Amino acid sequence: MARRADVSDKAQAEHMVDEAVRRTGSLDILVNNAGIEFLTPFLDIAESEWDRILDVNLKAAFLCGQAAARHMVSVGRGGKILNIAPINSHVALEKQAHYVASKGGLLMLTKAVAIELAKYRINVNAIGPGVIDTALTKGSLADPERRAVLLSHVPWGRVGQPRDVANAALFLCSDEADYVRGTILYVDGGWLIS
Ligand SMILES: NC(=O)c1ccc[n+]([C@@H]2O[C@H](COP(=O)([O-])OP(=O)(O)OC[C@H]3O[C@@H](n4cnc5c(N)ncnc54)[C@H](O)[C@@H]3O)[C@@H](O)[C@H]2O)c1
Repeated sequence: MARRADVSDKAQAEHMVDEAVRRTGSLDILVNNAGIEFLTPFLDIAESEWDRILDVNLKAAFLCGQAAARHMVSVGRGGKILNIAPINSHVALEKQAHYVASKGGLLMLTKAVAIELAKYRINVNAIGPGVIDTALTKGSLADPERRAVLLSHVPWGRVGQPRDVANAALFLCSDEADYVRGTILYVDGGWLIS
C-alpha cells in the first residue's frame, strides 16, 4: 500500500501513521527515509531553502517518529525506528551547509530518542549511507569531476547501490538487532575510515 504525504507537515505525517495503523492493524517499523538536498554555496543559501531542507530532513523525522512511537507505546509491543543519517552527519562537503546541518541534527535526534524509548522496547537507530546511486545523486554522479571527487573518498572503489542500504535496514529492523540501540551503521564503502 502506498500513500502520498508531505512528511514535513504535521497533519499529513500523523494522518499517514493513523492510516497505516487503520489499514493494517499495526505499525511495527518506521523508516524515516525521505530527504532532499540542494548544492548551494553558503553565501547564497536563501532562508526558504534552509527551512525546506531542515523541515524535510530533520523535522519530518521528529513528526513521523513521534506519531509512530505514540502508537507503538500504546500497543506495548515495542518497535523499530530507523533514520537515514548519512556520513554527512559527520563529515561536511562544500555547498551543503544546510544538508549536513540537517543530517547532523538527525544523528543526535536518533541518539536522544533511542535513550527515551528504550524502556518501551522501541529501537531507534540510523544508517549512514555514503554515495549511493539514486535519483538524489544522479546529477552529481553524471558530472565526471564531481563523481571523481566523491569516489576518491571510497576505498571500496564503487558507488553504493540502494540494495546495500536496504540490506542494512533489514538487519536493523529485524529481531536480530533487538540489542542494537542508538547506533549508526555506516554503509559507505569505507569513506569514514579512509
Ligand atoms: N543517495 C545517496 O548517496 C545518499 C547518501 C546519504 C544519504 N542519503 C539519504 O537517503 C535518503 C533517501 O535518499 P535517496 O538517495 O533514495 O533519494 P531519492 O531522491 O531517490 O529519494 C528521496 C525520496 O524522498 C521523498 N521526499 C522528498 N521530500 C518529501 C516529503 N516532504 N515528504 C515525503 N517524501 C518526500 C522523494 O519523493 C523521494 O522519493 C535521504 O534521506 C537522503 O538524504 C542518500
